[in-house]
Amino acid sequence: MTTEAPETIRLTRGNHVTAPLLDAMAISSATLPSIDLEASRIFYEEALGFEVAPMGPNRLVVRLGTDHVYEVEKVDEPLEMPILRHNGFQTRGDAVAEHARLSERKEHYGIKKMTKPMVMHGTFGFYFQDRDNNWWECNLAIDGPMDKDLKDYTDRPDMSAEEARVHFAPGVDILAERISAYKQEHEREDYVPKPAVFQSIRISHGTLEVNNLQKTRDFYEKVLGFQMMQQSPVSMMAGLGTEHRYVAVASNDPQMEHGMRNRLLFDSEAKLRDAHKTLGELTEFPIHDLTEPTTDAFGRLAVEFRDLDNNWWELDYDPKGPPSYYFA
Ligand SMILES: [Fe+2]
Repeated sequence: MTTEAPETIRLTRGNHVTAPLLDAMAISSATLPSIDLEASRIFYEEALGFEVAPMGPNRLVVRLGTDHVYEVEKVDEPLEMPILRHNGFQTRGDAVAEHARLSERKEHYGIKKMTKPMVMHGTFGFYFQDRDNNWWECNLAIDGPMDKDLKDYTDRPDMSAEEARVHFAPGVDILAERISAYKQEHEREDYVPKPAVFQSIRISHGTLEVNNLQKTRDFYEKVLGFQMMQQSPVSMMAGLGTEHRYVAVASNDPQMEHGMRNRLLFDSEAKLRDAHKTLGELTEFPIHDLTEPTTDAFGRLAVEFRDLDNNWWELDYDPKGPPSYYFA
């Protein structure tokens, strides 16, 4: 019998799936709760520098720099977002100066908490919690999706704790070279600053809590069809169809509120109905609360379920196409 050293850190194994069970075209959107949509519109536009458009009854839609959007949904009671489940955006500005500016306007925008700017898990930035309890991470801008040029540890031999410490030493800015190009551009004389607190360029990532990186990677690759990359021993990145990424982090018994669900977009009604049937018959992974296909207030045919980590997903077929049409 072989026993695994308890300090061994297991890296994930790729499945090399060419035909996932679901045929989704993109992870198209996430949901953010808002107790006051007008206050959220002002905050996302004036402070964070995002594009904001009305979506329909009690909902706004927000995006920046990718085709992935955030649907801002009116709620009567605020939800609690744990800091681990933050969303991140990138700025080409001076993050220290932007931190100071946001700090000055903290009360005006209802900011509840802010961390100090520092190098954290390989990039420079800080976190803050908005009036609706949503946590945001601001990082310095890099070119392209956040996993570009990062090492992929998929299928590597497992690491000892000491090897992991060397690879992921705290205080090391692994993106430093790619950040400097954006900083130089920002410092050019002809650069026209955005009229916002942040010189933001892209909402780069959301975060998902998962119980077990190996099992969840299996589910994401075999069923949902995500493209995966192992970023560190405790996190992996998922993407599909846009340059926005989800960082899936190891957690303990995660629970996602329905009001923070993410969406997968399908390009035909037949593919959505096939996905519903496949999920209904799925035995390899425990999924819960699968709903029947229903047309929502925005004209989308939608199915919802909770996955093996209790993360809520909404699968949509939208006859109007990808959500960028809200900004046309
Ligand atoms: Fe992050």
